[in-house]
Amino acid sequence: MAVERSAPILVASNRGPVSYALGEDGSLTPKRGGGGLVSGLSAIGPDAGAVWVCAALGDGDREAARRAGAGHLDADHTGGQQVRMLDIAPDVFAAAYNGVANSVLWFVHHLLYQTPVEPVFDAEFRAQWAAYEAYNAAFADALAQEAAEGAVVLVQDYHLALVPGLLRARRPDLRIGHFSHTPWAPPDYYRLLPDDVAAGVLRGILGGDRAAFLTGRWAAAFADCCVAVLGAEVVRADDGSAVAVRFHGRETHLGVHGLGADADFLRERSRAADVDERLAALREQIGPGRKTIVRVDRTELSKNIVRGLLAYRRLLETHPEWRERVVHVAFAYPSRQDLTVYRDYTERVRVLAEEINTEYGTEGWQPVALHVKDDFARSLAAYRLADVALVNPIRDGMNLVAKEVPVVSERGCVLVLSREAGAYEELGADAVTVNPYDVEGTARALDEALRTPDAERTDRTKRLAAAATALPPRDWFLTQLRALQAG
Ligand code: G6P
Repeated sequence: MAVERSAPILVASNRGPVSYALGEDGSLTPKRGGGGLVSGLSAIGPDAGAVWVCAALGDGDREAARRAGAGHLDADHTGGQQVRMLDIAPDVFAAAYNGVANSVLWFVHHLLYQTPVEPVFDAEFRAQWAAYEAYNAAFADALAQEAAEGAVVLVQDYHLALVPGLLRARRPDLRIGHFSHTPWAPPDYYRLLPDDVAAGVLRGILGGDRAAFLTGRWAAAFADCCVAVLGAEVVRADDGSAVAVRFHGRETHLGVHGLGADADFLRERSRAADVDERLAALREQIGPGRKTIVRVDRTELSKNIVRGLLAYRRLLETHPEWRERVVHVAFAYPSRQDLTVYRDYTERVRVLAEEINTEYGTEGWQPVALHVKDDFARSLAAYRLADVALVNPIRDGMNLVAKEVPVVSERGCVLVLSREAGAYEELGADAVTVNPYDVEGTARALDEALRTPDAERTDRTKRLAAAATALPPRDWFLTQLRALQAG
C-alpha cells in the first residue's frame, strides 16, 4: 500500500541504494550499493522516516518495483531504508537516461564533444528530451505523493534537473535542494544545448531552495550560466563568490559541499580477509620488487584512461630504466554499455593495454595489468599496495578514488592528479599535478612520482588523507539537510 504524505525527509536519485538480479525461476536477488548517499543517509537512521525515490534500472529492478506497486521495497532488501522504486516505461527510461542524461548532459558538463561533428540536436533528440521531461515528472509525482507537509527533499544529479521546479509546482510547501555530482559546464560550452533545453535545465534547478555542488568552481559556472542564459541576477559575498541566484522573484541559495572519503568504513573494509586474498593475488601478478602505478575507474570517456595508457607507454619509451621495474595496474570497470560511444571507448582501452604489453612485455613482466571485472575488494587491495595513483580525468565532479587511495595506502602513495578534477581544490597542494590532455607532461609526472623518496611520499600521503576525509559522507549529508531545514 502506498504511504501517502508522511515522509519528513526524501532523497531522489536515478540509481537507488539497491538493485535486483532476476533469476530464471522468477526469484529476485537484491544487491545493496555503496557510495556517499547510502552512508550519508545512514546518519539519520531508519527511524527518521526518510524515503528514497529511485528508478528501476533493469529487468530485476522492474520486477521488484512491480511487486511493490505504489508502495516501498521489502525493507529486508534495503537495510531498513524505505525505498520507492519507479517502474518507468523502458523506452521512456532509455531515452531519458541514455539519450539525454548520459549522452547530452554528461557530455556537456564534462566537455566531451568533438564539436566539428557533435552534438547534433535533431528530431531524435527532441523525442528523447520529451522522455526526459516525462521521467522527471514521474519523480516529481512520486515525491509529491510521499512528502509530509513541509518536508525536505534532496534531489540528486543531472538525471533529475527538472524535478525541483516540477515538484515546487505540485507542492509549494516543501523545502527542495538539488545536488550536482558532476562538474558544471562554463557558459560558452553550456550554450551548445538548444536554447529552451539550456534554460529548462537551469529553471528546473532554480525551482529549488538550494542548488549545491562539489566545488566552488562548479557552483560559479552554474551561476555564470544562469546569468548568460536566463539573465538572472547573482548575489555575491564580499570575496566575489556567488552565494545565490535571483530569478523571477525567487532566490536559490548556492552551496558547496566537497564530499569526502569515509575513513572509518574504508580502513575497516580494507583489512577484511577477501581484500588480503586479492592483495596476495595482485602481488603475485606484479612480481617481486616492482613498483606499481594504480588507476581505478569506471570505463567512461571523462576518466581519460586512453591518455593515461599513452603516458605510461611514453614513460617506458623515454625512461627505459623503468622497464621490468614497474607495472601499471589499471582497473577499468565497464559502465553504461548500452551506449556505443562508451562501448567503443572500453574497447580502445583494452586494445591499447594489449598493444603496450606486446610492445614492451618480456617473459617475466607484463607492463599493464588490466582488470575489467568490477570488484571493490580488489580495488581496495590495489589502493593498499599502490606506489603511485594515476587520476587524470578530463573533468570530474570530485573523484573519490583520489580521496580513497591516501586513506587506505599502506606505505604512502604519490597521487598524480588532474587539475580538472574537483578533488584538485582540496588535494592539489600535495599531489603531482597534470594537465589531462598533456600526455608528455603526464609521462614526466609519472616518472617524478615513481622517484619520490619514501619519507616525502609518507608525509604527503598523511596530509592528503587528512584533506580527503575533512567532510565524510554523513557530515556531507547532514550539512545539506540542516541548511534546508533552517530555511
Ligand atoms: C556519476 C554520477 C552518478 C552515477 C554514477 C554511475 O558519478 O554522478 O549519478 O550514478 O556516475 O553512473 P551510472 O550511469 O552507472 O549510474
